[in-house]
Amino acid sequence: MTTVRAEQDTVAWTVEEGIAWVSLNRPEKRNCMSPALNRQMMRVLDELEFRDDVGVLVLGGEGSAWSAGMDLKEYFRETEARGLGAVRQAQRESYGWWRRLRWYQKPTIAMVNGWCFGGAYGPLFGCDLAFAAEEAQFGLSEINWGILPGGGASKIAVELLSFRNAMYHAMMGENIDGRKAAEWGLVNEALPLAELKKRVTEVACVLMEKNPIALKATKDAVRRVREMTFDNAEDYLVRAQEAANSFDNDGRKEGIRQFIDEKRYKPGLGAYDK
Ligand code: ACO
Repeated sequence: MTTVRAEQDTVAWTVEEGIAWVSLNRPEKRNCMSPALNRQMMRVLDELEFRDDVGVLVLGGEGSAWSAGMDLKEYFRETEARGLGAVRQAQRESYGWWRRLRWYQKPTIAMVNGWCFGGAYGPLFGCDLAFAAEEAQFGLSEINWGILPGGGASKIAVELLSFRNAMYHAMMGENIDGRKAAEWGLVNEALPLAELKKRVTEVACVLMEKNPIALKATKDAVRRVREMTFDNAEDYLVRAQEAANSFDNDGRKEGIRQFIDEKRYKPGLGAYDK
């Protein structure tokens, strides 16, 4: 049976105790990304990015999939039938929210509960951290239906995997499970599906104890320096820290004070009291 889901229902979200739980919500289509879903996700990211009650954003998937990649019918076939302008618009809408995630104000965690294919590597890489169910399946399945891994997927494969694993993954069209994805560096950790949300909540709670300005500066720094020479990175990091100081000079002074003067905590063992 074909379900017609309203655009605003293609993404589900709720905010609970500082965590924005956002889900791709087309379980009947294994959360594949249609133009409607891509547009709605951008609206949801807009809504949540600067809210004071959001400390961390978690991106999950409803049902058995995280995301079965691009919607081959609505994103490819139907869009191509409408011509190049429609294709470019659909690309802007999908690449747009993945890019938005890469530079999101709040820390982001991918919680990969199930299938994760092709285009889904865009938001997977967009999230700062990624935790997967051992049962999840990851694949660059593009080659199985006759295209190359586009939309950044080839780039993401070489960013996250060794050259040999990236090449094998892209050329063979075989899936790997969550455990192998963790071993290969696609995700931080894999654990049984039943324990996934608990672990992600734990990580989100640790992140929420940190200075949020320092966290945003840190996540941007880790992404930026990948593409820089050592000297450029050194210079960028000096300037990025000085820029962060201008937003939040008191934070780090307080961090030093609680350690050196009050001996209340040890930075080597945890965060200062904000
Ligand atoms: N595009 C369009 N429709 C899809 C997609 C997709 N990527 N993935 C699933 N669906 C639809 C199916 O057509 C089906 O629709 P229907 O109920 O109207 O027939 C529905 O979702 C359920 O899919 P099933 O195949 O019945 O679900 P199952 O759980 O048996 O299999 C699986 C899940 C393995 C994810 C399978 O759906 C699949 O192979 N999907 C395609 C995965 C893929 O290769 N994606 C493209 C990656 S490349 C890229 O993103 C550029």
